[in-house]
Amino acid sequence: MSGHGEPVPMVARKAAGLKGVAEVPGDKSISHRSLILGALSVGETRVTGLLEGEDVLDTAKAMRAFGADVERLGDGEWRVHGVGVGGFAEPGQVIDCGNSGTGVRLIMGAMATSPIAATFTGDASLNGRPMARVTDPLALFGARAYGRAGGRLPMTILGAADPVPVRYATPVPSAQVKSAVLLAGLNAPGETVVIEKEATRDHSERMLRGFGAEVTTEVLPEGRVITLKGQPELMGQTVDVPRDPSSAAFPVCAALIVEGSDVLVPNIGLNPTRAGLYETLREMGADLTYENPREEGGEPVADLRARFSPDMKGIVVPPERAASMIDEYPVLSVVAAFAEGRTEMPGVKELRVKESDRIDAMAVGLRACGVAVDEGEDWWAVEGRGPGGVTGGATVESRLDHRIAMAFLCLGMATERPVTVDDAGPIATSFPVFEPLMQRLGASLVRVNRA
Ligand code: S3P
Repeated sequence: MSGHGEPVPMVARKAAGLKGVAEVPGDKSISHRSLILGALSVGETRVTGLLEGEDVLDTAKAMRAFGADVERLGDGEWRVHGVGVGGFAEPGQVIDCGNSGTGVRLIMGAMATSPIAATFTGDASLNGRPMARVTDPLALFGARAYGRAGGRLPMTILGAADPVPVRYATPVPSAQVKSAVLLAGLNAPGETVVIEKEATRDHSERMLRGFGAEVTTEVLPEGRVITLKGQPELMGQTVDVPRDPSSAAFPVCAALIVEGSDVLVPNIGLNPTRAGLYETLREMGADLTYENPREEGGEPVADLRARFSPDMKGIVVPPERAASMIDEYPVLSVVAAFAEGRTEMPGVKELRVKESDRIDAMAVGLRACGVAVDEGEDWWAVEGRGPGGVTGGATVESRLDHRIAMAFLCLGMATERPVTVDDAGPIATSFPVFEPLMQRLGASLVRVNRA
């Protein structure tokens, strides 16, 4: 439904209290990478807990088009028979990545150092997003890109026949760019180096190591220097995908703002490159605890317990934390609307080039619901109205953006008057069970018939 189907308008009404256990789906970032690394490996990769959202299913289809054997065995259980590093076949059809920036950018990287051509497209949201951030470094390997003006999809990539290794400092804090370069580096001889000033999610580095590549990370004055030794033989692995902290954010944040709530969200990965939201909520005074903290597969994991929090205060979110919570700002701004005082969010210009311009999408919708928002190119601020202080009563646009749709539906669970989202369809890209999961906790979410 990521822009392909009829819009699905949905209304959220004030809930009496959210209660129970929210089992959120598998991590989107790790799910994409499991399929792509499985496809680039020799032998069989078994994945459990895969997120079966549209974004990841599009990546599964793409891996088949490049020659891998990808099979669904059961709920979240998948098997990939890879073709090995450098073994991608030229696809016989256009690769449609739907709504997924992660899918298209990582796959472009993975094919850019093989002597094949591939044409990529997506939905209206994805076809409006910048791709030069990936095609610029891929050109250094010897790949060529032919796309629309401004480096937009649809776009054809001609992979390099004789790739050279690359040393590249990422100009924007982006795990997608870092990952595209590392995946391209797999089929280049010698060492490929990526330097990032700010730490972004490190799943690619960890998983590449797990599949048998030599990857080192050094923290130097110039930033994090990540070095990959080219042309490894990746071997199929067993991957148990942890649950997505970005999806967990929705039931957690809804519980904090809906009076009478007490929700447990079990088994959430709290990798420091992903957990910035939870730190921020605790600084705001949220009643959010990490229960049963433990390590699983080398990653910190805990059960999150969130209770209604009437005493939250606005804060300035440290800009150096932005990369570790970049997908969580929309729902953070919803929580901020119910805190006392102003929440400032500096250093977030990347939000303007996500599935939508997320600062604009949230600002317009929050204002329509009675919340004052200030914004600049690189920052925004929400004036909190205190617990129970947000009016609601508006219809807001989700702009083909799953996280905007879910953020406003969470808002409507706590506002005086209902909040309607014009299209909840994009939620299927990352959190296909959002609606029944939130309903089981006690949320009132109703699909409305269009006239
Ligand atoms: C992702 C990286 C982030 C994030 C996206 C997933 C990834 O994008 O917003 O949802 O899996 O690498 P950027 O790399 O553009 O910041």
